[in-house]
Amino acid sequence: MMGSQGFQTEAPGGRGGSRMEAPDGGTAGKSEVPGGRTGSRSEASGVGKEAMRIGSVALDSPLILAPMAGVTDLAFRLLCKEQGCGLVVTEMVSAKAILYGNKNTKALLKVQEEERPTAVQLFGSDPDILGEIAARLEEGPWDIIDFNMGCPVPKIVNNGEGSALMRDPKRVEAILTSMVRHVKKPVTVKFRKGFYEDQPNAVEIARIAESCGVSAVAVHGRTREQYYSGKADWDIIRQVKEAVKIPVMGNGDVFTPEAARAMLEETGCDGVMIARGAKGNPWIFSRTNHYLKTGELLSGPELSQLKEMILRHGALLTLHKGEKTAMREMRKHMAWYTAGLPHSAALRNEINLVDTLEEMTRLLESRLTIREL
Ligand SMILES: Cc1cc2nc3c(=O)[nH]c(=O)nc-3n(C[C@H](O)[C@H](O)[C@H](O)COP(=O)(O)O)c2cc1C
Repeated sequence: MMGSQGFQTEAPGGRGGSRMEAPDGGTAGKSEVPGGRTGSRSEASGVGKEAMRIGSVALDSPLILAPMAGVTDLAFRLLCKEQGCGLVVTEMVSAKAILYGNKNTKALLKVQEEERPTAVQLFGSDPDILGEIAARLEEGPWDIIDFNMGCPVPKIVNNGEGSALMRDPKRVEAILTSMVRHVKKPVTVKFRKGFYEDQPNAVEIARIAESCGVSAVAVHGRTREQYYSGKADWDIIRQVKEAVKIPVMGNGDVFTPEAARAMLEETGCDGVMIARGAKGNPWIFSRTNHYLKTGELLSGPELSQLKEMILRHGALLTLHKGEKTAMREMRKHMAWYTAGLPHSAALRNEINLVDTLEEMTRLLESRLTIREL
């Protein structure tokens, strides 16, 4: 696949990359616990056989790939899993779209054995529909059913979905009760610090979730008003952790292994959920696992590893979405993978003209060389 001559240099720093290392090799599988709806943290900052448990699902790393629409598709989840991510989450999927048999949702729901455990994330606002769809997902490869209460985009919020639900605790209770009642699988919920900046209510929502039988919560330390701006408030994650017994996944602004450890230590959270820090950087999982285990910070991927990852990503996307769509989608991934590299802007312009995997391979072979650095 990739010629090795001339690629021994390390990718220049500054992109928070890491050396590619073999994944933990653990089986990341499920194991049943009697009566196991309540999960618990087994080991502080632990990476290992059971670093975290969500209901009946054991994770071998406390690092979780956050759901990202347009990013965490099957191809990307597989790459992150290979790097030792403990749990992957699909892009958000509309419960209504599943109900009405929308054909686009089929691809979003596709899960492959190697990536498991996998959480499927639903969004919606109707308790009955969400319960019914959760029940349908009971049969299938999804290990955990997650519910989205964090999405800030107007199209979703104006429908009373995503983060809008944080303004309506009664509905939250009805939805979560319905979902939990309909399934044996663990149900989790991801929400923000609050909707309004001056009315943070993550603790209230977490308590409701726990009382409804939800198995774990994920808290993004920003309000809906903040969108993605400003800094994530990790103290709200600490407050949620102190308020409930179920596991808490902290989320927001983790871009480095050091930040992941800091979040675990400062908030006491059980798992760290990483979104933007994983874009173009699946190594963040192997590198952070290694850091949590040993305290040693590994350097970024070598150029040959970067190239190999991009090619594998392109090949996996081609396999699952066809070459045309794959090459179009690789444009944004390429920009993330190569951000900070010399000549990355020129490379991005060229990748925009690529139509086939073969052309992409040739471009990378000719462009990502020491001579270009
Ligand atoms: C491109 C993109 C797509 C996202 N899509 C989703 C989604 O489908 N569901 C969800 O719950 N959150 C979604 N999020 C929010 C992230 O999961 C995460 O909460 C947020 O980015 C903060 O984490 P970070 O600082 O690690 O990026 C998305 C974020 C980004 C950047």
